[in-house]
Amino acid sequence: MFSWRILLLFLLLCILGIDVAFSTSAKIGKGYHLISIENAPNGGLVGLLQAKQKNNIYGPDIPLLQLYVKHETGTRLRVHITDAKKQRWEVPYDLLPREKPPTVKQTSGRSLQNSYTPKAKEYAGSELIFSYTIDPFTFSVKRKSNGQTLFDSRSEESDPYSDLVFKDQYLEISTKLPKDASLYGLGENTQPHGIKLYPNDPYTLYTTDISAINLNADLYGSHPVYMDLRNVNGEASAHAVLLLNSNGMDVFYRGNSLTYKVIGGVFDFSFFSGPTPLSVVDQYTAFIGRPAAMPYWAFGFHQCRWGYHNLSVVEDVVESYKKAKIPLDVIWNDDDHMDGHKDFTLNPTNYPRPKLLAFLDKIHARGMKYIVIIDPGIGVNKSYGVYQRGLANDVFIKYEGKPYLAQVWPGALNFPDYLNPKTVEWWGDEIRRFHELVPVDGLWIDMNEASNFCNGLCTLPEGRICPNGTGPGWICCLDCKNVTATKWDDPPYKINASGIQAPVGYKTIATSAYHYNGVLEYDAHSIYGFSQSVATHKALQGLQGKRPFILSRSTFVGSGHYAAHWTGDNKGTWKDLKYSISTMLNFGIFGVPMVGSDICGFYPAPTEELCNRWIELGAFYPFSRDHANYYSPRQELYQWKSVAISARNALGMRYKLLPYLYTLNYEAHTTGAPIARPLFFTFTNETRSYGLSTQFLLGSSLMVSPVLTKGKSELKVLFPPGSWYNIFDMTQVIVSKESHFLTLDAPLHVINVHLYQNAIIPMQQGGLISKEARMTPFTLIVTFPLGAHSGEAKGNLFLDEDELPEMKLGNGYSTYVDLHATVSKGMVKVWSDVQENKFALEKGWIIEKVTVLGLKGTGGSIEINIDGNPVDDISKVEFSAAEHKYPNKLEEGSDKMK
Ligand code: NOJ
Repeated sequence: MFSWRILLLFLLLCILGIDVAFSTSAKIGKGYHLISIENAPNGGLVGLLQAKQKNNIYGPDIPLLQLYVKHETGTRLRVHITDAKKQRWEVPYDLLPREKPPTVKQTSGRSLQNSYTPKAKEYAGSELIFSYTIDPFTFSVKRKSNGQTLFDSRSEESDPYSDLVFKDQYLEISTKLPKDASLYGLGENTQPHGIKLYPNDPYTLYTTDISAINLNADLYGSHPVYMDLRNVNGEASAHAVLLLNSNGMDVFYRGNSLTYKVIGGVFDFSFFSGPTPLSVVDQYTAFIGRPAAMPYWAFGFHQCRWGYHNLSVVEDVVESYKKAKIPLDVIWNDDDHMDGHKDFTLNPTNYPRPKLLAFLDKIHARGMKYIVIIDPGIGVNKSYGVYQRGLANDVFIKYEGKPYLAQVWPGALNFPDYLNPKTVEWWGDEIRRFHELVPVDGLWIDMNEASNFCNGLCTLPEGRICPNGTGPGWICCLDCKNVTATKWDDPPYKINASGIQAPVGYKTIATSAYHYNGVLEYDAHSIYGFSQSVATHKALQGLQGKRPFILSRSTFVGSGHYAAHWTGDNKGTWKDLKYSISTMLNFGIFGVPMVGSDICGFYPAPTEELCNRWIELGAFYPFSRDHANYYSPRQELYQWKSVAISARNALGMRYKLLPYLYTLNYEAHTTGAPIARPLFFTFTNETRSYGLSTQFLLGSSLMVSPVLTKGKSELKVLFPPGSWYNIFDMTQVIVSKESHFLTLDAPLHVINVHLYQNAIIPMQQGGLISKEARMTPFTLIVTFPLGAHSGEAKGNLFLDEDELPEMKLGNGYSTYVDLHATVSKGMVKVWSDVQENKFALEKGWIIEKVTVLGLKGTGGSIEINIDGNPVDDISKVEFSAAEHKYPNKLEEGSDKMK
């Protein structure tokens, strides 16, 4: 029965501006009216929006907004909406360089005051058309070439979502979506349903230190971008939508609509027209910054753990890998090397400097590298130089005029404010000092969401010393009390923080603390790790002129330009093994292609079988590192005989493929192309690949299909049409006439990796350290469709002096090779277009062998011609893969193949 009393109470609460809990489906705004529009001085459009009907839910509406629209490139459209009268927080323009919207005093604009225009007006100028209605103001973005509507903010009376809502601490906008659109992105998130966004799963973006085992929660990074892939009548096209905003947000994806509910900042949308998934990431990373160039060794295998209690243990790990003949390039220290968990220090007993230096000399001479962790928090300790210098330079985030006090591993600490140029300078100086103490080859920046073990305000009573030294100090030794809740600590709309609607300051810096220039932590929270990556990159780049390697846990839009990422604290479970694929593939879309998960799981102990399967998959992560928790038993790959076999096998193949991976690194750096990609990046019309999260591609043609289930020795694999050559045994080929799920054998030590037809990939002979593997002769693997009489194949190869900061052609230290092959009338031609051959020649790199797959049984004699020269010494050319070996079981109409 309808109750008048409830209605009255509700109205009273609204009038008083008191929070009313709303379900996600309630409308809270009537939108805005476009009252003027004119050309902006820089070529875009600029307009004014007036609030139509004010209410107090989540605060008063901002009365007047400025709209700015611009076709920034032929494939990118920007729509920016902010307060017309007052400057609001935006992702800093120096941190993420982009065009600034003009601030226009609108006087001359055509007044649209009283016109009601249900019919949309159009603003064209690129592949994307911006259309808008005036009252209420709504907008849509259409693709010119096929007329598809990509974004449409128009709501109808019956829609659950509102027209545009813009309040100080609450912004809302929605778009309609066709039901069959496949969406990807919106992370960082462990997605139980795989890579494709799943209707009604929650997507909350707010950087948080909660482990990767939390499904559908706001994990370490914030990437408010999605790619939308649609297939209309067999024609696929993709585009992306970025909402560049660092405030916390909930994104509700309902299948046929998507709603953003954001607790601050502005609407700064960029639409990228694609239309292929590869062109989407190209356009996206051209805007946010191309992925960082990684040094060659970064593609080697990495071993880490928390709890290498002293240097002898580390030395033993390195020697044991060597003895077990398992490749290893990089050895890491978690905070065990530190003195009392303090950044940039060495524990004099367990990691005495002279011994550490001798160890580093030894491994560096072999070509191995050493990386250590640093956390952002700087221990409050009067005798600690890093802290003293930080204090003297006034580098810390503040609360009520004093450095904000928090607690992480070292006990009481302050957080550097990387938005402050003085902090960036001080941080660079500390890294330089540390590098003089210990010549590390890269830095691992952890806990930078930022993580805080206390909530609220902490005090360290005079004379109290926090526990430090050995082991993680979980207990908060500070006195903590709640902050006096300001509207920044307790905003009117509660995002689903930590997956439990926790306060926004939960286990992080109090959100009413402030940065340089009075910037509130409330606004800048999710760019903390990003700003630390930028500062760390700057510092490392200045050192010895080397290419920096940084691994960051927290990431934001643009982080890939500076750092690699691992997916944080996972579990040694089969589910986590599987989830790692979707997260990795999403990070490729986010422009962070150097990514991987803790191999064998961070905690607890993995089973032997799981660790076998994990190294088989992990050997093909772009970033391949075994890492474990302090309390976990040791899990280096040589600890189990069977795991060592799988590791030698899978990592052995990785090390042969290093030139291919490194060339993908170059491609990522120059075009944004993810190193690990979903199948739909190559097979865009194959709709069955749209949700496929159990297989992936490295580059465009190498498909990795791992076993992800306990006790299984076979697996179902989707094979798009064509010939697929087993990279471990090139005499085995699978020919898929139509797309098929086929069942493949996969005994414990086998990972299925297949190379697609029409490809040329460079391989070398492998080795135990990338430096050695790198100097072995090359083999080119050329694939044609099995039994082809004609066809062509293509590939490429990039080589350079990998420690130079820049990865580019034209500096005298690089070579780029375009590889081509054709078969026609019994003649195979292989040739290359080489740019800057001199460098490769000086280095002594040679192509020793060409392996051509797919032609045996073609009939007729085959002549070979490489770079225009007939090849007499046929031993240099090998034909293989004659036998068409069917898998033992075929599924889904596979009988058609026979
Ligand atoms: C949290 C990180 O996620 C983990 O990888 C690391 O081992 C611990 N911090 C200790 O530093």
